[in-house]
Amino acid sequence: MMKVAISGASGKTGYRIAEEAIKKKFQTKLLVRNSSILPKSLENKERCNVSLFNPSKLDNALRDCDALIIATGARPSADLTGPCKIDARAVKQQVESCQRVGLKRIILVSSLCSGKLIHPLNLFGFILLFKRIGERALENSQLDWTVIRPGGLNEDEENIKDECVLYSSKNTQEEGSIPRRLVASSCIEALQTKESIGKIIEITSSPNNKRLTMQQSIEEF
Ligand SMILES: NC(=O)c1ccc[n+]([C@@H]2O[C@H](COP(=O)([O-])OP(=O)(O)OC[C@H]3O[C@@H](n4cnc5c(N)ncnc54)[C@H](OP(=O)(O)O)[C@@H]3O)[C@@H](O)[C@H]2O)c1
Repeated sequence: MMKVAISGASGKTGYRIAEEAIKKKFQTKLLVRNSSILPKSLENKERCNVSLFNPSKLDNALRDCDALIIATGARPSADLTGPCKIDARAVKQQVESCQRVGLKRIILVSSLCSGKLIHPLNLFGFILLFKRIGERALENSQLDWTVIRPGGLNEDEENIKDECVLYSSKNTQEEGSIPRRLVASSCIEALQTKESIGKIIEITSSPNNKRLTMQQSIEEF
């Protein structure tokens, strides 16, 4: 059985990624910090408290895993260095750890408009520029990477069955939103779609989209 490490598993997208992985019968390892709080649904799952900036501990955490999904991200705060530290440097640390331990498959949750300079989101520590630096670490890694760039995230799950995900190639969507639950299921779909390797995939959702799988969408990129 494939074992998937999920970093940032205590986050609002991260915990859903873990839940979706478990639904699909993957084994999981939740990479979080000492202070991180996991929801009840994940309390009895394998948890590993590790600093993303401690290379040897990170290597040990990833050594028995087959894939890593990165759902870490700077939490909005007054500390404007968060994006540089978490969205760029911590992603690079995780990529390098995968390279050292021979973990080949890596998926990163990034953001629409990654790399854009003129954008209101950049008021928070130039986050879109640092997200692009994080993405680049994957692109240059020789690993089997996929970048998932979601639009604005929400927690709506009530009518989720009516929502259809629009998957598109890089720099094709600039607005739109998507429930975190669908970002999570898209990460797991990427894990199961080998055509997603080496691709940046942008995702938003709406009931008005045509219902296509990730694989069908990639064929039309
Ligand atoms: N908000 C949006 O509309 C939007 C849109 C597009 C993309 N995104 C991106 O999507 C991703 C998920 O967003 P989200 O709002 O669901 O996440 P979130 O709830 O803010 O969770 C962030 C995760 O990152 C972890 N983290 C933060 N700083 C860390 C550090 N120094 N060391 C280790 N772990 C750290 C947090 O751990 P703790 O629980 O310990 O704090 C948490 O698990 C992020 O990369 C975000 O930038 C967001």
